[in-house]
Amino acid sequence: MKSSRCFVLLLAIAVLFSFAVGSEAAPSRVLKLGHAVPEENAYHYGAQRFKDLVESKTNGDIQIDVFPNNQLGTGERDIIEGLQLGTIDLYVGSTGPMGGFEKKFLLFDFPFLFKDKKHVYDVLDGEIGTYIMGLLDDKGIHGLAWMENGFRNLTNAKRAINTPADAAGLKIRTQENKLHMAMWRGLGVDPTPMAWSEVFTALQQGTIDGQENPVPVIYTSKLYEVQKHLALTRHVFSPAIILVAKALFDSLTPEQQEIFRASAKEAAIYEREVCDKMENDYLGSLKQNGMEITTPDLALFQEASLKVYDEFKGELGDDAKLLDQIIASGK
Ligand code: PAF
Repeated sequence: MKSSRCFVLLLAIAVLFSFAVGSEAAPSRVLKLGHAVPEENAYHYGAQRFKDLVESKTNGDIQIDVFPNNQLGTGERDIIEGLQLGTIDLYVGSTGPMGGFEKKFLLFDFPFLFKDKKHVYDVLDGEIGTYIMGLLDDKGIHGLAWMENGFRNLTNAKRAINTPADAAGLKIRTQENKLHMAMWRGLGVDPTPMAWSEVFTALQQGTIDGQENPVPVIYTSKLYEVQKHLALTRHVFSPAIILVAKALFDSLTPEQQEIFRASAKEAAIYEREVCDKMENDYLGSLKQNGMEITTPDLALFQEASLKVYDEFKGELGDDAKLLDQIIASGK
């Protein structure tokens, strides 16, 4: 009798325990974060860190699902449009297409503007970066933190590049960015804007000769399989950014908004470290995979691309003065 009572008690405890575990609250929101590159890229590390931080700080009340490799769109412009339409909640990616949403973002597309990464982050994490990011709120997007894509370099399948004359005549995929296109045109290159999801096949089929991107992208997207030559042109620094749909952000509680901001900042610091390490490590990996790497005289490229300063300064209106401020702060 005593042992059967004991058995019933144990059974009741087991039922109560399984009920408690099973009743763990489901998230009140499940959000979609999209980016354009493979899971091996630093963006994915940053996106995962952001996800982990938000999920743990909200005790699982907000869940974030990360979709790499253009699963949510054909490329970065498409994903950002998804934020405006409310079909995608979060984006990690380059600012390359952002000039099409807020033209003052073109500020960061001027060639040879930044001296090194310290210069970049003094500007992005300072007044200028905060001001430019704040302009997005009117466009249905909210900026959370600056991440990193890196200094862009030219790759192609045809020949080694040491001078602008070597690049002339090549058909090069660019981002959907009018300033980048004008810069390449000035160098005698035929710029072909294209969504990132189409680039590998276009290179493989030879419909374009080359493209330009930072070393971590070139390696993690396996461009060495279709490109023989890499020239370290470092012609423009490509910032990355973590964005959230404004309507969604506005619907969060102040406490949740603070969690998003703090988590994005922490994830950005981590992502920059990962990206920087990849930039150093993957140069050797690209060589091992058969790429021939040249280090051109950058002064020649800089001189040949300066024309776009006069051509595009006007797009920035009164804020054209920020170009001079950035240049001065790098000296
Ligand atoms: O070239 C681009 O479109 C971007 O640099 C990429 C590869 C999508 C990463 O942001």
